[in-house]
Amino acid sequence: MATRFHLLLRPLCFLVFTVLLAAIATQAQVPANATFHFINQGEFGDRIIEYDASYRVIRNDVYTFYTFPFRLCFYNTTPDSFIFAIRAGIPNDESLMRWVWDANRNDPVRENATLTFGRDGNFVLADVDGRVVWQTNTKNRGVTGIKMLPNGNLILHDKNGKFIWQSFDYPTDTLLVGQSIRIGGRYKLISRKSEIDGSDGPYSLVLDRTGLTMFLSHDGQLLTYGGWPGTDHGSRVTFAAEPENDNATAYELLLLVNQDTPRRRLLQVRPIRSARALNLNKLNYNATYSFLRLSHDGNLKAFTYYAKVSYLKWEESFAFFSSYFIRECALPSKCGAYGYCNRGMCVACPSPKGLLGWSESCAPPKTPPCSGGKGKFGYYKIVGVEHFLNPYKEDGEGPIKVGDCRAKCDRDCKCLGFIYKEYSSKCLRVPLLGTLIKDVNSSSVGYIKYSI
Ligand SMILES: *[C@@H]1O[C@H](CO)[C@@H](O)[C@H](O)[C@H]1NC(C)=O
Ligand SMILES: *[C@@H]1O[C@H](CO)[C@@H](O)[C@H](O)[C@H]1NC(C)=O
Ligand SMILES: *[C@@H]1O[C@H](CO)[C@@H](O)[C@H](O)[C@H]1NC(C)=O
Ligand SMILES: *[C@@H]1O[C@H](CO)[C@@H](O)[C@H](O)[C@H]1NC(C)=O
Ligand SMILES: *[C@@H]1O[C@H](CO)[C@@H](O)[C@H](O)[C@H]1NC(C)=O
Repeated sequence: MATRFHLLLRPLCFLVFTVLLAAIATQAQVPANATFHFINQGEFGDRIIEYDASYRVIRNDVYTFYTFPFRLCFYNTTPDSFIFAIRAGIPNDESLMRWVWDANRNDPVRENATLTFGRDGNFVLADVDGRVVWQTNTKNRGVTGIKMLPNGNLILHDKNGKFIWQSFDYPTDTLLVGQSIRIGGRYKLISRKSEIDGSDGPYSLVLDRTGLTMFLSHDGQLLTYGGWPGTDHGSRVTFAAEPENDNATAYELLLLVNQDTPRRRLLQVRPIRSARALNLNKLNYNATYSFLRLSHDGNLKAFTYYAKVSYLKWEESFAFFSSYFIRECALPSKCGAYGYCNRGMCVACPSPKGLLGWSESCAPPKTPPCSGGKGKFGYYKIVGVEHFLNPYKEDGEGPIKVGDCRAKCDRDCKCLGFIYKEYSSKCLRVPLLGTLIKDVNSSSVGYIKYSI
């Protein structure tokens, strides 16, 4: 029985094997002289680099992976914990170089980790023990080469030059010029936790049919704190730096929206272009090398490489929360854990005893353990205050009486207080305090829950 089975199976196996082999043979491969194997070891570079990191330049005899001003590196901010990344900056000047893309920010590798681009066209980062940490998943998909493009896009291409994989499809916390955020899971920006910790932080910039929205993830909830929500911006929003006029004396930093229609048509209807772009800032110098970053503090900032200054060449060229865009006090982290903010400054630490002097140790009041609203607590009042959620929640529910608003907050364990608008009787319960914004209108009152 067993022999008969074998006799039948063997030719079949052989056939399948031959067909498979033929399929692989017709698939173009990476030429042997273009494959690549890099081991994360050796000297560190000696330039100043963002996050005070150490770094190793990735290169060999075939590839430099350097296309002005972008280059591949490993970097680490804590010992033996390396990220494979793209750097932007010019090696022989003294200004801070920046990290604009990370491959493995949530899963760093160690000394002697390997980066391999094999004949099968897959690009693989493996830790020193061989564990695959990151890969492009492009095995046997016709990849014949790898290239760093002048815009900072790292691509794997086939023999016709078509991109099979590109780093632009995997944004981290940064968009380079020409790179997009799109509708769908991975095409968003996520901040890093801190300068030192590059893993996913709580802030994100997400595009969906309800807008381009900045979210703060808190206790399982996504809280809107900025962005351009409430409008369908299409399926893709692209960061751009464009000359404003024909002689390019000024540049605009833009987010191009509604790109479902071909770009050519947009140019033909240039007068209405502003309706199709979100204007970030106008600069009086060449802004070709710019990037947009969701910072670890939640602010959204652009930086532009401006060669004509002697230091700080990646100059801050836009900030969402700033004196010229959205009031700085609306940045939830502006005053650290807690604070009262007026005109961009943390002026007080609210407490049951009133407004005390602010310092970084200012913390929200302790709330009682949750017991279905039967905890012993009270509320202290701050007159003339708003919360970062107010504009995005239409001031909350209502009209409702202040007593009823309070009763709702009593019963809601996640409610740390509420903002009550006396003129409209609107009630906004808040699950996070952070930075409270001074409101000139004294009929906007904060009630902050605390243990008694
Ligand atoms: C690899 O080999 C091909 C063909 O032999 C040659 O044309 C090409 O220049 C080589 N590439 C490098 C980087 O040496
Ligand atoms: C890395 O590999 C080299 C040999 O190539 C070895 O001498 C060195 O000890 C290794 N370092 C670590 C930290 O494993
Ligand atoms: C450059 O453009 C500005 C604004 O359009 C114009 O005023 C100026 O004359 C132009 N300069 C040159 C040299 O063309
Ligand atoms: C702006 O800078 C880019 C990159 O250096 C360059 O290619 C372009 O020609 C510059 N534009 C002008 C108007 O100088
Ligand atoms: C507060 O704002 C409301 C609505 O805009 C207005 O009716 C009221 O007069 C304002 N109160 C003060 C004290 O400015």
